[in-house]
Amino acid sequence: MKRTRYSHERVAGCYEALARIYSRGRIGAAKASQIEEMRAGDRVLYAGVGGGEDALLAARRGVRLSAVDLSPAMLRALRRRLDGEGLAGELIVGDVLEHRAEEPYDLVAANFFLNVFAEEVMLRVLAHLASQVRPGGKLLVADFAPPGQGSTSVCTSARTPARTSAWVHALYYRPVNLAAWALRLCALHPIYDYVPAAARLGLSLRRRRRFRLGRSGPELYESLVFERPALP
Ligand SMILES: C[S@@+](CC[C@H](N)C(=O)[O-])C[C@H]1O[C@@H](n2cnc3c(N)ncnc32)[C@H](O)[C@@H]1O
Repeated sequence: MKRTRYSHERVAGCYEALARIYSRGRIGAAKASQIEEMRAGDRVLYAGVGGGEDALLAARRGVRLSAVDLSPAMLRALRRRLDGEGLAGELIVGDVLEHRAEEPYDLVAANFFLNVFAEEVMLRVLAHLASQVRPGGKLLVADFAPPGQGSTSVCTSARTPARTSAWVHALYYRPVNLAAWALRLCALHPIYDYVPAAARLGLSLRRRRRFRLGRSGPELYESLVFERPALP
């Protein structure tokens, strides 16, 4: 299959700052919410890690960190962050579809990464990542939340996710998707609902948390925790 490569090399210096402004910190909050799933000593892979503000939190928690990204500049930024705190991490420059560790991971995180790809490729990447989670391990995904509430999801957050209307999502998401596509940073596509795709791969949804823009704004981001069934 012919595949466009979307590296964020040119925006490595400003990507996280722009994401923070655009989301009023909610992108960072969605990623940070996953850290409680991790225990010291866990083997954790961050796919499409970028500058790795989330991977840094994981390393602080004492996980054995691996991270893969196409962009050397992104990984240099993460290396500087880790070095600054005397933390270790295996950082791999390359295509995630070509990365496979000898042993599966306890956790694999794909944050604001799957949404880079056109749907067909996204499904391949998702399957590839799921296959690298050990039985009983977890796949973590933080990303834009699809409008409304996916009927296949299980919500264990304190309150039921609001039915944020499709037009709010379209107004918020479409222009940025269009701009990123024009800069060749990602494919043009609607917001993905990863829950049905993960279910088809045999992953069960353990937690779905939504994040509002502002105190009472629409729930535009989410953090998903999927589990791969343990062996009988
Ligand atoms: C939208 S950024 C998100 C970065 C980071 N996860 C975050 O939340 O800030 C997507 C990242 O995926 C990387 N990337 C794109 N395609 C990739 C691929 N096929 N394999 C590995 N990394 C890739 C880009 O270089 C970029 O750093």
